[in-house]
Amino acid sequence: MKKILTVVSAVVFILGFGFTASAIHDIIPSESQIPEPGPNAEKLNEYIIKYDPYRAWELWPDKGRLYKGAAPHGALLTTFVNNAGYFSIKKKKGMADGSIIAKENYTADKKFVALSVMYKIKGYNPAGGDWFWVKYAPDGKVEAAGKVKGCIDCHAKMKDNDYIFTGKVK
Ligand code: HEC
Repeated sequence: MKKILTVVSAVVFILGFGFTASAIHDIIPSESQIPEPGPNAEKLNEYIIKYDPYRAWELWPDKGRLYKGAAPHGALLTTFVNNAGYFSIKKKKGMADGSIIAKENYTADKKFVALSVMYKIKGYNPAGGDWFWVKYAPDGKVEAAGKVKGCIDCHAKMKDNDYIFTGKVK
């Protein structure tokens, strides 16, 4: 009997430890060990493809894959957020520095046509919410990058929500 109790308590202990460990993992965002690249579209592309692959990130909360979008981005969208971004959306206090949003744009017949990225870099552009904007072609070619006026002018409608349309972040 004593032996059984010992085994049972050992199992309980191990399970408890496992749950605690995964809870800690949920609380502390663990980004990739490679530092984020700063305002450089080519390096950012390498970072989100190779070092911290965006397709392994969380989807935007409560949005599935290939949800319906509006002009100009595409009929169907899939939006990924890195850890910093994901936790910011949950906290609703604006997007933290280092947040990256990577949105895949598809046509109505599910052809991948572009990747639109917003990347928050402290001090990069205080007048525009410190967002670094990029549009990549499906092969990674940079089509627009930086303080892109077109992106900012339209997203400025959502200035009170940190320039974000998809959901409340504040
Ligand atoms: C004419 C308005 C308009 C322009 C121009 C525009 N966007 Fe958007 N953007 C939107 C809307 C609306 C959404 C919400 C998704 C949807 O319904 O398409 C969005 C969503 C996004 C998102 C997901 C996060 C969010 O804000 O909801 C990213 C990333 C993004 N846009 C990047 C860009 C980039 C990069 C550019 C410039 C190359 C750009 N956008 C230009 C209207 C615009």
